[in-house]
Amino acid sequence: MKIIRTKDYADMSRKAANIISAQVIMKPDCVLGLATGGTPVGIYEKLVERYNEGDLDFSEVTSVNLDEYRGLPKEHPESYWSFMHRNLFDHVNIDPAHINLPDGTNMDAEAECKRYDEVIRSVGGVDLQLLGIGHDGHIGFNEPHDAFDLGTHCVDLAQETIEANKRFFDGNVDLVPKQAYTMGIRTIMQARKVLMVVNGAGKAEIVKKAFFGPVTPEVPASILQLHPDFILVGDEEALSLI
Ligand code: GLP
Repeated sequence: MKIIRTKDYADMSRKAANIISAQVIMKPDCVLGLATGGTPVGIYEKLVERYNEGDLDFSEVTSVNLDEYRGLPKEHPESYWSFMHRNLFDHVNIDPAHINLPDGTNMDAEAECKRYDEVIRSVGGVDLQLLGIGHDGHIGFNEPHDAFDLGTHCVDLAQETIEANKRFFDGNVDLVPKQAYTMGIRTIMQARKVLMVVNGAGKAEIVKKAFFGPVTPEVPASILQLHPDFILVGDEEALSLI
């Protein structure tokens, strides 16, 4: 595990964008595992900037996103499909045919999870997986559990996660979807490189617990301690307890 300490959010975003840029430059047809949430927004801004400057070409890149709310139409502004288009895909030359997310509108959970695992398999797995972390240690939407869920699965979101995400739904918990489809732990662990970004004092406790505590499905991110190429990029506040 490699830890990169950065000054602040802007510094974290730039350094993480450097790592993703290197991946795209070294392997133009790479598979990027992409993430949503507030933390990666600054990274996507940087990637768009570099694309506009002519330093990055996404024409051969494939993306597979971590997760999607179940039951939310794609066009809903808070669907992860919308988030990714708004923050990245609409601004770079990625081929729409190379963009993959779980389909939250498919209510047949078993069929959708099977389809998404097949998509990931057919693109050859993930070269670089970008992750944030939830306050309860979730990655993607792999919530604390008594076992690691391996493949794509449908989850009931933890109350803490619903509370944390209500900021995107007019602050109203009733509007936050209660279920999601998420990539499983096996897929994340099989990514050839994993890059996690963390910022702010609110993440300091969970960062300590996840990476300096026991490996346990009760803290899903802790499994990353066992990944052979895991990079944690955090600002001073988020890394203040380690
Ligand atoms: C959501 C996403 C996660 C993300 C987490 C933390 O639950 N499914 O992928 O890591 O939020 O988000 P933030 O970066 O806004 O703290």
